[in-house]
Formats: sequence, C-alpha cells, structure tokens
Amino acid sequence: MTALVVNGVKREVQAPTDTPLLYVLRNNLELSGPQFGCGMAQCGACSVLLNGKEVRSCITTLGSVAGKEVTTLEGLSARWAQQKGLSGAALHPVQAAWIEEQTPLCGFCQNGMMIKATELLEKNAAPTVDEIKDAFTGGISPHLCRCGSYTAIIQAVQRASAAMSNATSKRSHA
Ligand code: FES
Ligand code: FES
Repeated sequence: MTALVVNGVKREVQAPTDTPLLYVLRNNLELSGPQFGCGMAQCGACSVLLNGKEVRSCITTLGSVAGKEVTTLEGLSARWAQQKGLSGAALHPVQAAWIEEQTPLCGFCQNGMMIKATELLEKNAAPTVDEIKDAFTGGISPHLCRCGSYTAIIQAVQRASAAMSNATSKRSHA
C-alpha cells in the first residue's frame, strides 16, 4: 500500500510501486485530467504537479511519490482557493483563461498545458512571451500540441497572469 496526497486528500493505493503514476491516477483514482499521449515523457499530456513542480506522470512511478503531494487538473481550483484563502473557487484562473481564450482545439494536450501554465505562474507572476515559450519548450521535452494551439496558449497564459495579479492586488487592498 502506498500513501500519497492527491488534490489535498490522503489516498492509499494498492498497486505495485513501479506502476506509472498516470495509471494510478486514471485507473485507481478515476481522475481523467491527465492524458496518455506518448508514454515516454515526450509530449506533456500526462503532466501533474508534484509538490508544485510539473512532472510527467507517465514515467513517474507510484513508489517515487509516496508521501508527496500530487495536484491534477481536477485539483487546480481547490489549489487556488487554498493559496488565496478563498472559501471556494469555481475554476483556477488558468482554467478560466483557457475557456475565455477558447484555447483547446481537440483538447487532448490541454491538461499538460494548463498544468505547465500553473507551475509557471506560481513561480513568475508576470512572464514575458519569451519566458512563456521557454517554460513550454524547456524541461524534459517540449509540450506538444498536434492541433497547433500555441498562439492561443500564450494568450491564455497572459490572461491568467493578469487575472491572478488582479486577484492578489484586490485581496491586499481589502
Ligand atoms: S504521455 Fe507522458 S509525456 Fe506524453
Ligand atoms: S488541442 Fe489538440 S493536441 Fe493540442
């Protein structure tokens, strides 16, 4: 039995410790945000936050995340609410920006894009376009979108950045 915290809730999973975290999330915990794209850390569709850092859950073993905190797409709104001391938030600003910019085309890659955007904006509240491009193309491999939604992703990150800064300044003036 391996214990981990997923979206703020302690979970115990009965599975071999070399099981990919992606399979645990989708099959054992029924979280369908992370997608199986390549299975080889080459596309980003399976990304989750592990203690706040984006990782590819397809190559991350269950054993390696024992006792750690995993956030999936499903947990982003609660993560934002907890960070800002809100009683509840319908959507994380990243998710709202994705909708407002109508970013997804087929949508398959967008889990990883939103996870990456969240990681970036938690570290850098106002990234430049170059910093956004670096975030999505650096790391273990670039985040790939076969539909070519890259321009809309940059616009959505900028929109989310503005919304998050606005929320922070509103609270500091409250
Ligand atoms: S499915 Fe994990 S990086 Fe592609
Ligand atoms: S929206 Fe289709 S793969 Fe990115």
